Amino acid sequence: MPRLRATQRHSIRFTLNDTPVQGEAEPRMLLTDFLRHVLGATGTHVGCEHGVCGACTVQIDGTPARACLTLAVQAQGCHIRTVEGLAPAPGRLSVLQEAFRRHHALQCGFCTAGILMSLDAFLRAHPNADEAAVRDLLSGHLCRCTGYAPIVAAALDAAARLRDTAHA
Ligand code: FES
Ligand code: FES
Repeated sequence: MPRLRATQRHSIRFTLNDTPVQGEAEPRMLLTDFLRHVLGATGTHVGCEHGVCGACTVQIDGTPARACLTLAVQAQGCHIRTVEGLAPAPGRLSVLQEAFRRHHALQCGFCTAGILMSLDAFLRAHPNADEAAVRDLLSGHLCRCTGYAPIVAAALDAAARLRDTAHA
């Protein structure tokens, strides 16, 4: 039986924000590096590289996941969504992004892409989320600038607006 070598490159295909993409990666390449360095999708940030800070969070088949703990080869055939895929159209922001802007929920912005990807999925699954639930979700993300209060306010504002839209 042939042995796989760690340096052997594999062709990887998946959809990135609804667009089919393809590239080659060694088996040990992380999804963060594949997104940023092979595909040029640099919206996903890399902080701790060991699953703590949440900066690298993307959605894999709709579920938030740490891209720094995911191998690129594991994305084969999946639907990957990154912060670049949040805006509904060029020049427009999603309800959640707009709420972040309204509440000044970012300063340096390093944590923002990951938080947006977590909150986007969370608010879809939990449209009635309260402050405690939002704070619990944010416990998986490190932000060194904002003190979290404006992020919580933005998340609750977005949740209310999304509920209004759903009931309109
Ligand atoms: S870079 Fe992935 S959790 Fe920090
Ligand atoms: S806005 Fe700077 S780390 Fe969150």
